[in-house]
Amino acid sequence: MSRNPMVVRTVPSLRRAIDGLRARKAAVALVPTMGALHDGHVSLVRQAKKRAGKVVVSIFVNPAQFAPTEDFGSYPRTWKADVEKLAAERVDLIWHPDVKTMYPEGFATRISPEGPATVGLEDRFRPHFFGGVATVVGKLFAQVRPDIALFGEKDFQQLRVVARMACDLDLGVKVVGARTVRERDGLAMSSRNVYLSPAERQIAPTLYKVMKESAARIRAGESIVTALAAGEATIRGAGFALDYLEARHAETLAPIGSLKDGPIRMLVAAKLGATRLIDNIAV
Ligand code: PAF
Repeated sequence: MSRNPMVVRTVPSLRRAIDGLRARKAAVALVPTMGALHDGHVSLVRQAKKRAGKVVVSIFVNPAQFAPTEDFGSYPRTWKADVEKLAAERVDLIWHPDVKTMYPEGFATRISPEGPATVGLEDRFRPHFFGGVATVVGKLFAQVRPDIALFGEKDFQQLRVVARMACDLDLGVKVVGARTVRERDGLAMSSRNVYLSPAERQIAPTLYKVMKESAARIRAGESIVTALAAGEATIRGAGFALDYLEARHAETLAPIGSLKDGPIRMLVAAKLGATRLIDNIAV
């Protein structure tokens, strides 16, 4: 049985704990999470351990990135299981503030990201989202002052937004993206997969299958427009309400005409019943 990691819940105790980690001259890696940890998070922690002497995991379900109509209240909270998983990975510190600690009375500052945050993908459907993410991640970086921070590629636009912000604000944090971890049938791991009914769970891997097929068609020379139109029809035919299936420049996320114009990332978002799923792959 592994020893439980230290858990801190206030900024002064976090500062003391981080000073303690730093006193050993170790590089510090941060893995920001909202809890409900799955193998994708565990893979981030393992990569953090390879890159830094000390690993901090934050667990904070951030109200600022949920619209009032979204699932903040019902977002899965699995504290005990999360701590057990992090203990097994020998994480050094868990930063677990409550909402009042993160956003005390009078809190009045919000980071408003542009660039990759305004390219018409997630921002079109969740206009509040990247402001909330940038604000909380900016705070997490200021609180923990990590040397590196790891984010899953599953939230590809988020990764680009956070990397841009860290660079633009000279935060001194190296933002590292890590490959999406998938279930055996291809479904990208996500804390929200628990919302899927057994029937929906059977259909959910369609998104990954369609992206792989569409990417293969583009690589074989088919036009992006034609390949995506076929993919969209398959996704809708499987019962999804499609928000987007798009091919974008992998760095800027700008629209892209063909493979000649740069590396392409294919990104998808669709609702299956009440559950909204997102995913992406390199073309
Ligand atoms: O990807 C997530 O879990 C969240 O958006 C993050 C980065 C922890 C910010 O709340």
